[in-house]
Amino acid sequence: MNFKAQLQEKTEHIESVIRKYLPAQEGYQKTVLDAMNYSILAGGKRLRPMLMEESFKLFGGKDKVIEPFMAALEMIHNYSLVHDDLPAMDNDEYRRGRKTTWTVYGDGMAVLAGDGLLNLAFETAAGAFEYASDLEEAKRIAKAMQILSNKSGVYGMIGGQTADIEAEDSKNPLTEELLLFIHENKTAALIQAAFMIGAVLAGADEEAVRKMEQAAYNIGIAFQIQDDILDVTSTAEVLGKPIGSDEKNHKLTYVTLKGIESSKKEVARLSGEAIGILASFKNQNEFLVELVRTLITREK
Ligand code: IPE
Ligand code: IPE
Ligand code: MG
Ligand code: MG
Ligand code: MG
Repeated sequence: MNFKAQLQEKTEHIESVIRKYLPAQEGYQKTVLDAMNYSILAGGKRLRPMLMEESFKLFGGKDKVIEPFMAALEMIHNYSLVHDDLPAMDNDEYRRGRKTTWTVYGDGMAVLAGDGLLNLAFETAAGAFEYASDLEEAKRIAKAMQILSNKSGVYGMIGGQTADIEAEDSKNPLTEELLLFIHENKTAALIQAAFMIGAVLAGADEEAVRKMEQAAYNIGIAFQIQDDILDVTSTAEVLGKPIGSDEKNHKLTYVTLKGIESSKKEVARLSGEAIGILASFKNQNEFLVELVRTLITREK
């Protein structure tokens, strides 16, 4: 099977995993449940659960213990997007080719839908304990839950979004160091969670988990630089979200700091380093390497 066909098959599989954990849209809280499912069922590349499952496979993981974590991470990613689009944050009206959650359900309901997805994520991940057959496996799941909360919290995604907001019209100097802090946390952290959780649940040793964290750092920074490039060079039709959002919000991006050409080179350099790390393991996952390679030239 060629890469494209594999990618499609894997995306469909992830779609079915996510759907298993989504809430029924009923009861007096139906509106918030509608808003949660509206946001998560709008599609998206499903990159984070895919990276997680491929990391799990790289280290020989086979059973279903990974599935609740795949769904949980995509829920957290979606909550971050629902909040990121709010008028109080990036104030964007389109995502994945349709109206953003707040535009359809109102700001209050979008805040709650994000909160709902975040809580459901941890409830879902905790379901992985049902698959633990011994204490060793239970410990791995506990470790994975720690990674998930750390990388999505104030020492991860939320921390990065905080610095991202404060860098708008900042009186402080907009340095490369600050930019890397923002990219590492707002974007790379969830990708690190994907790689590290996949490795931990498959029983990889600490050294391997640390190397996966580094590879995901590179992939995550490259991913956000490419997102910032596309915000300037793409079209709303291709992206499914508005272009020029960063300029509108006076964001600090790699493109504003270094220009397009140097940004493109950096995406290729960081991704090449990540592929080098993946190649250093005893086992290999060719699909994963190809996936990282295609991200360098992704158009959406
Ligand atoms: C968008 O992430 C937010 C960033 C971190 C740049 P994705 O580009 O993975 O969005 P979807 O899930 O495919 O829509
Ligand atoms: C978002 O970065 C990172 C998140 C944690 C959501 P952006 O604000 O650049 O993401 P898009 O371009 O809206 O998807
Ligand atoms: Mg943003
Ligand atoms: Mg945004
Ligand atoms: Mg962006």
